[in-house]
Amino acid sequence: MGKLIIDTDPGVDDAFAIALAARDPEVELLGVTTVFGNVPLEHTTRNALRLLSLCERTEVPVAAGAGRPLVHPGMPPEETVHGADGLSGRSHTLPGHPHGLDERHAVTLLADLLHTATEPVTLAPIGPLTNIATLLAAHPWAKAKIDRIVLMGGGTEGGNVTPSAEFNISCDPEAAARVFGEDGLRRVLVGLNVTSRTTVDGAWLRSLGESGALGAALCGLVDDYLAHYSSTLGEDAILMHDSLAVAEAIRPGIVHTEELPVQVDTTFGPGRGATIADRRPGASGAHLTEVATGADVPALRELLRSTLTQGR
Ligand code: RIB
Ligand code: CA
Repeated sequence: MGKLIIDTDPGVDDAFAIALAARDPEVELLGVTTVFGNVPLEHTTRNALRLLSLCERTEVPVAAGAGRPLVHPGMPPEETVHGADGLSGRSHTLPGHPHGLDERHAVTLLADLLHTATEPVTLAPIGPLTNIATLLAAHPWAKAKIDRIVLMGGGTEGGNVTPSAEFNISCDPEAAARVFGEDGLRRVLVGLNVTSRTTVDGAWLRSLGESGALGAALCGLVDDYLAHYSSTLGEDAILMHDSLAVAEAIRPGIVHTEELPVQVDTTFGPGRGATIADRRPGASGAHLTEVATGADVPALRELLRSTLTQGR
């Protein structure tokens, strides 16, 4: 795997995804950019800094981006899923960051990293797509330096915040429409239709928690998220939405895909925020996207376990 930039709204599942990339020796993590989402930007940004410090990757620049959607203000997120601080109220247990934020805006950092990259870069957005849409609008040249955008969001079987909309897309449907409407861009959509089956259970978490300092710190962040999913799934488990997207970004092929045109519903009806895949025979168009239809979840669990217990 080569060069990677993660755009994120940490977020408990984001935390594992960031750690996976930060601790994988085959990944050149160029930067992390933050966006509003699970919690306000102030919290997502502080959490990203602390998580990179936890992973001993404080040389990776972190820049803050959008604190609100492009056009229409959305609903504030439910604090019960990730906790008021985004990490089950445990963000303060993570180490501080010695350098702090990069002074550039997230979109400027993305543009600078893409400009200087000596080979195409994979982008892994695992939160709302506001920063990515802004990058594409403000720096049209940038897409030539993007190998793939592997995003967690949407899905083909309904949503998790409304019957139609998945959380990341629902936060900024207009931004998502801009990303999916861009031609000449390789997109991989890792959606709820796959991530809703991407579980790790309590036993897996406890084993990781006993594996060393990093695993213990990450597992110390899951309480609110585990309570939410134990209730909604009816089992002692959590969904690793974002880890699956980052795993595909760094280990292409861990998800199985079908290339389909995808559009985003930006109307204000019951479908707002839906990612609509066109399965009609012969369907085509600028919105062609590799839509995840399945995943090797045992391989994901093993990649997480082996990477997050490495040398610590
Ligand atoms: O719907 C799941 C997505 O929304 C994940 O990225 C999770 O972190 C939340 O942001
Ligand atoms: Ca996320």
